[in-house]
Amino acid sequence: MITTIKKLFDFNYKQFWAKRYKKYGFDVHYCGNKGFSKKENLNQYYIDTHLFYNFVKQYINKDSRILDIGCGTGIYAELFQRERYTNYKGIDLCKEIIDTLNTNFNIINYSFEQLDICKEKIKGKHELIIMINVTQHIVDNKDFEFVMRNIKEALSDNGIFIVTDMNKDNHESYYVRRRLISYYERILNLKVKKTIDFNQKKMFMFKKNKEK
Ligand SMILES: C[S@@+](CC[C@H](N)C(=O)[O-])C[C@H]1O[C@@H](n2cnc3c(N)ncnc32)[C@H](O)[C@@H]1O
Repeated sequence: MITTIKKLFDFNYKQFWAKRYKKYGFDVHYCGNKGFSKKENLNQYYIDTHLFYNFVKQYINKDSRILDIGCGTGIYAELFQRERYTNYKGIDLCKEIIDTLNTNFNIINYSFEQLDICKEKIKGKHELIIMINVTQHIVDNKDFEFVMRNIKEALSDNGIFIVTDMNKDNHESYYVRRRLISYYERILNLKVKKTIDFNQKKMFMFKKNKEK
C-alpha cells in the first residue's frame, strides 16, 4: 500500500512515455495494450476507430478543424485521412513520434506538434478536439484541471470535445487514474451530451455553447 502511494506521488509522466518509446519505438505497442500481440492491438483499433467515427461523424464537416490530443502513432489521423477530412492537427509529448508522423503524413493541412498538454497552452480554435486513451494517464488532478481548462479555451463556439475515461471495473494504478464524469462536468462547466461504451472504457461527448 505504502509502495503504491509512493509510486503515485513519484509518477513522472515524461519519464514514463520516454521509457515506453525506448522500449517499443514507433510501434502499435507504444500506445496499445502491451499484453496483446500486434494483430490483437490492430483488431482492437479497428473496432475502436469504427465506434469513434460513428459516434462523431454527424457532428463534424469535412473541413472542421480537428485537434487530436495525445495522438500517439497516428491511428486517428489515418482514420480522418481515409475519410477525407481536410484539417487535422495531432499533438503529443513524444518528439520522436511527432517527427515520424510529420514525415509519414506529408499532406497539406495535416500537422503534428510536440506539446505537453499538462503545461502548455493549445494554440488556435478547433471545432473538434479528441483525447482518446490519454486522461487516465494524467494522474495529477492539478494537471488534469489545467488540461480541461486548456481544452475548453481551445474549442470554438459549438465545438465538440470527445474524451475517454475508465469504467468502474478498471483498476487504478500508479499510472492509471479513473475519474467520474461529474468531475469533467464540473471543471469544464459543461454537461455531457452523449456517452458510449468504448473498449472497456467510456467515451464522452461535450459541446461548448456559443459564448455570449
Ligand atoms: C495510450 S496513448 C493513446 C494514443 C492515441 N490517442 C490512441 O488512442 O492511439 C497516450 C498518448 O498520450 C501521450 N501523452 C501522454 N501525456 C501527454 C501530455 N502531457 N501531453 C501530450 N501528450 C501526452 C503519449 O505520448 C501517448 O502517445
